Amino acid sequence: MKPPPATSPAPPAPLSQESILKELTTGRFGRTLFFFPVVDSTNETLRGLAGRGAEEGTVVVADTQLQGRGRRGRQWFSPAGEGIFLSLLLRPRHAPAKCSGIALLAAAAVSRAIEDQTGLRTEVKWPNDILLGGRKVGGILAETGGDETGERYLVLGIGINVGGGEFPPELEDRAVSLRMAGAKNPDRPGLIAAILGRLEKLYRVFQGSGDLSPALDFCRDRSATLGRRVRAVGPGGEISGLALDLTEEGGLRLRRDTGEELVVMSGEVTLSPAG
Ligand code: BTN
Repeated sequence: MKPPPATSPAPPAPLSQESILKELTTGRFGRTLFFFPVVDSTNETLRGLAGRGAEEGTVVVADTQLQGRGRRGRQWFSPAGEGIFLSLLLRPRHAPAKCSGIALLAAAAVSRAIEDQTGLRTEVKWPNDILLGGRKVGGILAETGGDETGERYLVLGIGINVGGGEFPPELEDRAVSLRMAGAKNPDRPGLIAAILGRLEKLYRVFQGSGDLSPALDFCRDRSATLGRRVRAVGPGGEISGLALDLTEEGGLRLRRDTGEELVVMSGEVTLSPAG
């Protein structure tokens, strides 16, 4: 997909604490909200707050990040005025093994919110990349930690390419922004509020019963992964196979060429060319 012509529309509307709070429809998520023009990483800032006892639902948003973190130690491209860089604090009551699927809740919420706000149809590449036209428009980084009382917490970091389109050369072929994909006037406060609203609903169900199924159903429907041959790189090494389904816990069920079926719970997949 080519960047828009030189007559491209104005950059996304400015972000502020006020502009986000005005759009919020949530009960708890984002009601305690910190906005910073610039931080190293919103995940890092929120981890600091979490360690000092911040409550579940606390959100940190920044206009730009100097050291935005991606998965697997990568950097997250975070240009000023052009993206959403948001972290949300969760204190799940379920055992850690059950919580690995929470990032999938976030993927479903982000994907759905983008669709609601822009009318663009997204895809979810397991475990939590959001794609438009096969290119990455958003990603999620879930990090766990413990606060000073020893209570565990989870920071969900969400990054979305909203405006711009000037990606560094190494991302040029793989990344896209909402505006490059055709969104006319991407509204960052509205999109943040929509993400938090969707996420709060899904998380409430999960906290109540441990059920991920509403998010799983959405991710199955929008999956860029299922039915494709994939190579999954995880803690246990590399596995290739056909992606069959998502499990109840949010894992990816694969069938190897030997016929053996197995479940990958975390890691990163590379999709083989379709066809
Ligand atoms: C990925 O690699 O796909 C995950 C990217 C996550 C980026 C977001 S931007 C807000 C939050 N703060 C960070 O430092 N990273 C996450």
